[in-house]
Amino acid sequence: MVRRVHVKAPGKVNVFLKVGALLDDGYHDVAIAYQAVSLYEDVRVSEADDFRVSVAGTVELSRVPTDGSNIAIRAARLLAAKTGYRGGADIELTKHVPVTGGMGGGSADAAATLLACDTLWGTEVPREELLELARKLGSDVPFAFTGGTAIGTGRGDELSPALAQGTFQWVLALADFGLSTPAVYRELDAHRERHAQDIFPVDPRPSVDTDVLQALRAGDPTMLAEAMHNDLQAPALHLQPSLTEVIELGEQNGALAGIVSGSGPTVAFLTPDADAALELQVALSAARLAVVRATGPVHGARIVSD
Ligand code: C5P
Repeated sequence: MVRRVHVKAPGKVNVFLKVGALLDDGYHDVAIAYQAVSLYEDVRVSEADDFRVSVAGTVELSRVPTDGSNIAIRAARLLAAKTGYRGGADIELTKHVPVTGGMGGGSADAAATLLACDTLWGTEVPREELLELARKLGSDVPFAFTGGTAIGTGRGDELSPALAQGTFQWVLALADFGLSTPAVYRELDAHRERHAQDIFPVDPRPSVDTDVLQALRAGDPTMLAEAMHNDLQAPALHLQPSLTEVIELGEQNGALAGIVSGSGPTVAFLTPDADAALELQVALSAARLAVVRATGPVHGARIVSD
């Protein structure tokens, strides 16, 4: 019988994202409050002579590459190179996190693949070193590994856990287009350059506002809704003005607040409770938006027994 390992890893919402200075390597110093949410990527890996990936799922899949550029294949190859493992991996992705949606679906695929391959191959790489590999694959990959609620600094990959209580109820409005993360960061830089005279100087070492930490600690959605912030929202709305209406529609139909998730285009609405989330889902669906509900925080990448 072919051996197979199944790992689930979650998508995320950034409840706070502040972008600092542009660094020489093209990245920015950021301060992020991440929350893992209950939309999971399922990754099943079995032994093979070479590396291949197949993709299925409940979200629009046309933008997912199925060649060696797929982040799951890159993750498996990276682990093989580190450990000297000589075989390959047959990787099956079942995606439930919107693709190029700002919710870390690709990052979840990468984190899950690292864990699945390490288990399948018996390479037993220590967790700290797996996190180091995760970091090489993308700034959000370490968080998909750890999950829960966490603060990310540096590129967003230097994590410290945040105290959080209770469960937050999210409604996610999915767009039928993607947004490129580098393009959204470039738009922010261009805006900052154009308006250098009349905006506050960029904080070179941004940090997460204390009211965000307090709201998470208290498990209070009203407090969190007031404290949520995303520096990438303005450039995302500039590139896709239609998202402004989506946010307004949600806020008129019971959301405490709506925020672009990461670099977008998914809009995450925080609601007071599960009933309000259901009502908002119905209202947005009636306006012909694709909507899913999720709760957070949830655990990071972990092995599932089939
Ligand atoms: O690390 P990741 O591959 O997810 O980053 C994608 C792109 O997002 C980078 O190439 C960069 O343009 C931008 N980025 C950034 N600063 C960060 C994280 C990402 O400018 N802290």
